[in-house]
Amino acid sequence: MAERWVEGTVTEKVEWTPQLFSLRVDAPVEAFEAGQFTKLALEIGGEVVGRPYSIVNPPAERPLDFYFGIVKRGHLSLRLAALRAGDRVLVGPRASGFLTLSEVPEGRALWLLATGTGIGPFLSILRTVEPWRRFGRVVLAHAVRTAAERAYVDVIEGIERAHPGAFAFVPFVSREATAFALSGRIPQAIADGRLEERAGAALDPEASRVMLCGNPDMVRDAAAALAARGFRKHRRREPGQILVENYW
Ligand SMILES: Cc1cc2nc3c(=O)[nH]c(=O)nc-3n(C[C@H](O)[C@H](O)[C@H](O)COP(=O)(O)OP(=O)(O)OC[C@H]3O[C@@H](n4cnc5c(N)ncnc54)[C@H](O)[C@@H]3O)c2cc1C
Ligand SMILES: NC(=O)c1ccc[n+]([C@@H]2O[C@H](COP(=O)([O-])OP(=O)(O)OC[C@H]3O[C@@H](n4cnc5c(N)ncnc54)[C@H](OP(=O)(O)O)[C@@H]3O)[C@@H](O)[C@H]2O)c1
Repeated sequence: MAERWVEGTVTEKVEWTPQLFSLRVDAPVEAFEAGQFTKLALEIGGEVVGRPYSIVNPPAERPLDFYFGIVKRGHLSLRLAALRAGDRVLVGPRASGFLTLSEVPEGRALWLLATGTGIGPFLSILRTVEPWRRFGRVVLAHAVRTAAERAYVDVIEGIERAHPGAFAFVPFVSREATAFALSGRIPQAIADGRLEERAGAALDPEASRVMLCGNPDMVRDAAAALAARGFRKHRRREPGQILVENYW
């Protein structure tokens, strides 16, 4: 039987806030596609407890990078948060998942809309050549509750520098006023036109392809706001424009 877990070693931990952290992990995983996830696991009370986590680094780079939120009373996330450099973690050797550009039909603009840690797969995708080869315009929107919960700012700035004119980053901060971010939620900003205005691009089902990731309520509400504009979920047998990944 194929191996279920390989052993990984934490090489670095980044604490963004008391609830948000990243782990960089060395582990012999197989090749993966940007946007995919694998499982991480720890032995807890004699039982191996594993959960899926998106891979944040692009496929050509190592170490593996994972971005976590601590879930209150969560079985695994709390324990992952206690890991430090040098600690061991079990890693699924084969990544999977369909939130990948190979699943996205051709179009002219790519919109990546995320809440919280759901930005992870998009940061992997945006550091490959494919979005820039296939789409003339790429928009990343990221919604967090407070300004302190912005993470990977240096990575986003690097993407902006690498693709001037082709890339727009639209931050949302929902629970405090800031000078730099849109307020409120992504679905409302789709409905009232603020997202398009800030991105400098139009959401149009003929040209735009949309990937949604993170909070399942955001995914549902954003898909509904897009449906009102003529978008529909993409299925291999019934092509559409929206691909989704719910984190819970
Ligand atoms: C495809 C996929 C990719 C994922 N990628 C990531 C990732 O990159 N980073 C990340 O932090 N998490 C990610 N998750 C969520 C992750 O797999 C776990 O569900 C999460 O870490 C909670 O696990 P736990 O054992 O601590 O909580 P559990 O004890 O399993 O669950 C506690 C409860 O919290 C709910 N819950 C789970 N996740 C969240 C959340 N983020 N916010 C609020 N409630 C939640 C569950 O529905 C459950 O009812 C992903 C999930 C999926 C399906
Ligand atoms: N972030 C924290 O400080 C914190 C602390 C302790 C525990 N947690 C737990 O961790 C979980 C994840 O927290 P999180 O802050 O990372 O993620 P989150 O609750 O998913 O919030 C991230 C962003 O998603 C937005 N959002 C929520 N529901 C939405 C919807 N239906 N449509 C569109 N946008 C929506 C939020 O806006 P709104 O602000 O308008 O909801 C926020 O801007 C939560 O369930 C929470 O219980 C978080």
